[in-house]
Amino acid sequence: MKIIVTGGAGFIGANFVHYMLEEYPDDHIICLDKLTYAGNIENLESVMDNEKFTFIKGDIADRLLVDKLFRDEKPDVVINFAAESHVDRSVTDPDIFLQSNIIGTGVLLDACREYGIKRFHQVSTDEVYGDLPLDRPDLFFTEDTPIHTSSPYSASKASADLLVQAYHRTFGLPVTISRCSNNYGPYQFPEKLIPLMIANALNDKELPVYSKGENVRDWLYVKDHCIAIDLIVRKGTVGEVYNVGGHNEKTNLEVVKIILKELGKSEDLIKFVADRPGHDRRYAIDPTKIGNELGWEPTTLFDEGIKKTIGWYLDNRSWWENIISGEYQNYYEKMYGNR
Ligand code: NAD
Ligand code: TYD
Repeated sequence: MKIIVTGGAGFIGANFVHYMLEEYPDDHIICLDKLTYAGNIENLESVMDNEKFTFIKGDIADRLLVDKLFRDEKPDVVINFAAESHVDRSVTDPDIFLQSNIIGTGVLLDACREYGIKRFHQVSTDEVYGDLPLDRPDLFFTEDTPIHTSSPYSASKASADLLVQAYHRTFGLPVTISRCSNNYGPYQFPEKLIPLMIANALNDKELPVYSKGENVRDWLYVKDHCIAIDLIVRKGTVGEVYNVGGHNEKTNLEVVKIILKELGKSEDLIKFVADRPGHDRRYAIDPTKIGNELGWEPTTLFDEGIKKTIGWYLDNRSWWENIISGEYQNYYEKMYGNR
């Protein structure tokens, strides 16, 4: 099989590329990535010499480039990870989210129509369902939960999902969509909660927790997300949405305290800061469908996953130190300077 993986130089995409090349050494993976601030070619360094791997720098919203790529390569499958992915950035700069997440997805869908495809898979997010109240632990997102977005990020992802579903209904394109909860693990850019807190704690810097840290996220180790996507692409039913999550809800404060304890650092580093505008309260996935239909369940529980993740950031200090020493400084000042 020839598979185009877009956004493969980012966090989940890079984990997916490594997973696929290990699991299916005969498949050919072509990574198309624009290398935005979040894309890092270092994440793919160890597979660059693999003859079953090709890297192409480019924008999924660039129609001419995408067209040529499909014409030259005639892929069997396209898996779209490429997106602007950080909610806080979507609050300050929504424009690029519309361009990459919506227009980019549309361009890929058009190329799939034009050249034919066995499967287009859209990597979406549970954030398209909006949020759940903190005092109703009995409520979960199912695939039938209405789309009800909060941030420009989630609105752009929901728009892309609607386009994907429209191309299935109108043009018969063989699509699937996965909506996963929050991921954590190696290669996650240190603007997101878990790697940001690990990096700051290791540098004895304040840990900025929004509001009182009571918001809840449902954490999944990234490899389990990769396994789920692979299963959906190979065995999932065309036209369907699959929720992916492992019933692992934690408040942000709980997560931060676990990290501090694991690193032997003081809770005095925690600094409660002004809340994110429109901050979603709780995400919680009901993964019954993917469990029943495809036999998926998470293999790495949080206690083990967070230790592995912290271990990776300790072992790969130069990876994140390089990132936080550059343009990231301006971002950090803008995002946290007056908070
Ligand atoms: P990321 O920000 O770490 O990586 C995104 C990658 O996409 C980067 O390599 C970037 O260079 C590339 N990219 C961005 N715009 C592009 C464009 N226009 N053309 C080509 N490449 C482009 O993101 P991530 O956390 O790895 O998320 C990957 C996907 O998974 C996203 O679609 C996101 O919405 C979804 N998702 C993420 C999570 C999570 O917890 N991180 C959870 C559920 C779903
Ligand atoms: P994030 O990793 O940005 O993922 P998302 O908003 O897509 O779920 O944030 C996870 C949670 O952590 C979210 O409730 C916001 C909170 N948070 C903080 O409290 N402080 C921070 O510095 C960041 C980045 C996030």
